[in-house]
Amino acid sequence: MNKGLMKSKQFALTLLIVTVLLFFASRQMNAQESDYVGSEKCRECHADMTNGFSKNIHAKADRRGLGDSGCETCHGPGRVHAESGDRAAIMNPAGMEAGASAKNCLECHSSNKTLMLWSGSAHAGNNIACTNCHQVHANRVKLLARAQEKEACFTCHYNVRASILQRSKHPLRDSSAPLEEGKMTCSSCHNPHGAKSEKLIDARSINDKCYECHTEKKAPVLWEHSPVKEDCLVCHTPHGSSNDKLLVTKVPRLCQECHMQGRHQSGPFSTGSIFVQNRSCLNCHPMVHGSNHPSGPVLQR
Ligand code: HEC
Ligand code: HEC
Ligand code: HEC
Ligand code: HEC
Ligand code: HEC
Ligand code: HEC
Ligand code: HEC
Ligand code: HEC
Ligand code: HEC
Ligand code: HEC
Repeated sequence: MNKGLMKSKQFALTLLIVTVLLFFASRQMNAQESDYVGSEKCRECHADMTNGFSKNIHAKADRRGLGDSGCETCHGPGRVHAESGDRAAIMNPAGMEAGASAKNCLECHSSNKTLMLWSGSAHAGNNIACTNCHQVHANRVKLLARAQEKEACFTCHYNVRASILQRSKHPLRDSSAPLEEGKMTCSSCHNPHGAKSEKLIDARSINDKCYECHTEKKAPVLWEHSPVKEDCLVCHTPHGSSNDKLLVTKVPRLCQECHMQGRHQSGPFSTGSIFVQNRSCLNCHPMVHGSNHPSGPVLQR
């Protein structure tokens, strides 16, 4: 082969490699100012989104310190995309891998107290992204993906939707229904961003969460019923139950799961017996959470 031709071929190859390397290196490097075009440019093709954005809470957010609170704070430098309209040339948090997408948001939100325990939470650990629950462009309260918070949760936790439709439940149903309903929501008990307690419970323990609203159950009593202070969930279920009062099992069976002394606790009872009729065990032991009466040792008053 001609030596000169080989040289020029080598040269071309080297040039190609260098170009490719430079291309990737430039993508790795921090974006240059000239890679940004500013939100006015975005308006040309995304008028709806740009106009709506002035009402968005993020219209005030400013990451780059340029007073530019625009589109490119989240979508990254947009010049290439704005010139080509190529959707692959712009960052879309919704299409990104969950961890990377969350990182983008956390650059501004990591100091928010509610998000302190995000990394390591059940949601972060299962590749759930901020955008699974939030829709930044939908100018809703807390920028949630659905008008009602719980609807955002039910897209994945449909078993809980079934629970809150049961006979006994917390007032979690439709907030457009009677006043009582919708008084509570999922985040009354959970912090979806992460919590110290199990099951994303936003308190030191599950019982502490229950005490926040059912304070009277925390008060010290003369005669305690020991399972109560241990764990409310021994007898109750939080979301809904087909039994009265969110009970996990009907009385007397609930009581008999622990009380098998074999005296009047476990029967057999004839039909119509005071032990099974009406409120069953609670006919005589109504103070199931503990008694303050000097003569209430068996929770009877
Ligand atoms: C020349 C017109 C044009 C301009 C200017 C423009 N875009 Fe786009 N953009 C498009 C088109 C076309 C699409 C693809 C829409 C589709 O396929 O539905 C798109 C899609 C997008 C997407 C979605 C990408 C995806 O993964 O689906 C984002 C985000 C976006 N643009 C942001 C921006 C931002 C931010 C700016 C300003 C920096 C901007 N665009 C400027 C034309 C433009
Ligand atoms: C605070 C971060 C943030 C800012 C600022 C922001 N966006 Fe977005 N954008 C998102 C996220 C997150 C998504 C993914 C969908 C969603 O969550 O709403 C998105 C999606 C989009 C899409 C794709 C919509 C679709 O239906 O696929 C377009 C287009 C877009 N943004 C344009 C813009 C424009 C134009 C601006 C400036 C006016 C802007 N964005 C500012 C976070 C942001
Ligand atoms: C599993 C659903 C879910 C995920 C995932 C999620 N959020 Fe939230 N977020 C919520 C709900 C629900 C609220 C409203 C809570 C309330 O009203 O107290 C909220 C509220 C917020 C708030 C307002 C907090 C305040 O102090 O008022 C910010 C900021 C926020 N989220 C950011 C994020 C960021 C950033 C991510 C990703 C790292 C994220 N969220 C992931 C459900 C979620
Ligand atoms: C440039 C910084 C910045 C980025 C990036 C950013 N945010 Fe924000 N965000 C803010 C600021 C500032 C507020 C105003 C309230 C505050 O100070 O927390 C806010 C508020 C919020 C709120 C509360 C809305 C309300 O009604 O109280 C949510 C939810 C939220 N952001 C979610 C996100 C999500 C999801 C992302 C990623 C797609 C994101 N943010 C990216 C700066 C940012
Ligand atoms: C995009 C799907 C998705 C959405 C939306 C979602 N979650 Fe989850 N959630 C998961 C996954 C996945 C897990 C972990 C696996 C599991 O336990 O089922 C989980 C786990 C949980 C757990 C149990 C945590 C543990 O330690 O076991 C709670 C509580 C929870 N989510 C509450 C919520 C609440 C409240 C909302 C709405 C604000 C919500 N989730 C929205 C997917 C989702
Ligand atoms: C009264 C407080 C309370 C409210 C309100 C509440 N939860 Fe829970 N949730 C709990 C407790 C306590 C647990 C732990 C249950 C256990 O360990 O058996 C739990 C467990 C969960 C779990 C994991 C176990 C399971 O059942 O899949 C999910 C998911 C969950 N809750 C979602 C939700 C959603 C969605 C809402 C809103 C519709 C909601 N929770 C409202 C207290 C509550
Ligand atoms: C944010 C406040 C709040 C928290 C936290 C809370 N509750 Fe409730 N609870 C309520 C309200 C409100 C009602 C409805 C009271 C009414 O209808 O008079 C209720 C009702 C109940 C009922 C009676 C249900 C019925 O069918 O009458 C039980 C049992 C109960 N809660 C147990 C618990 C347990 C166990 C926990 C902890 C896992 C808990 N609650 C946490 C507010 C709360
Ligand atoms: C040993 C089983 C058991 C445990 C443990 C238990 N409960 Fe109950 N709870 C019951 C029974 C049975 C009823 C129904 C009482 C009735 O109908 O008079 C009830 C009713 C309730 C009610 C509705 C009526 C009322 O008394 O206000 C609330 C609220 C409640 N429990 C909260 C709690 C909380 C909070 C805890 C944890 C601190 C707890 N319970 C632990 C058995 C239990
Ligand atoms: C999770 C197990 C458990 C359940 C369920 C339970 N108990 Fe108990 N109960 C106990 C324990 C433990 C004691 C303390 C026993 C002791 O000190 O000998 C106790 C004590 C009592 C006492 C006082 C007995 C004494 O000797 O001081 C009565 C009465 C009682 N329970 C009634 C009930 C009734 C009625 C129910 C159903 C609503 C019920 N219990 C459900 C575990 C349970
Ligand atoms: C007709 C009223 C009555 C009914 C109904 C009743 N008890 Fe009792 N229970 C008592 C009295 C009175 C005592 C204390 C005297 C005694 O030792 O028999 C007692 C004592 C207890 C004790 C303390 C231990 C013991 O044996 O002394 C437990 C535990 C208990 N009952 C559980 C239950 C359970 C569980 C039920 C439901 C299956 C139930 N009781 C139904 C009246 C009743």
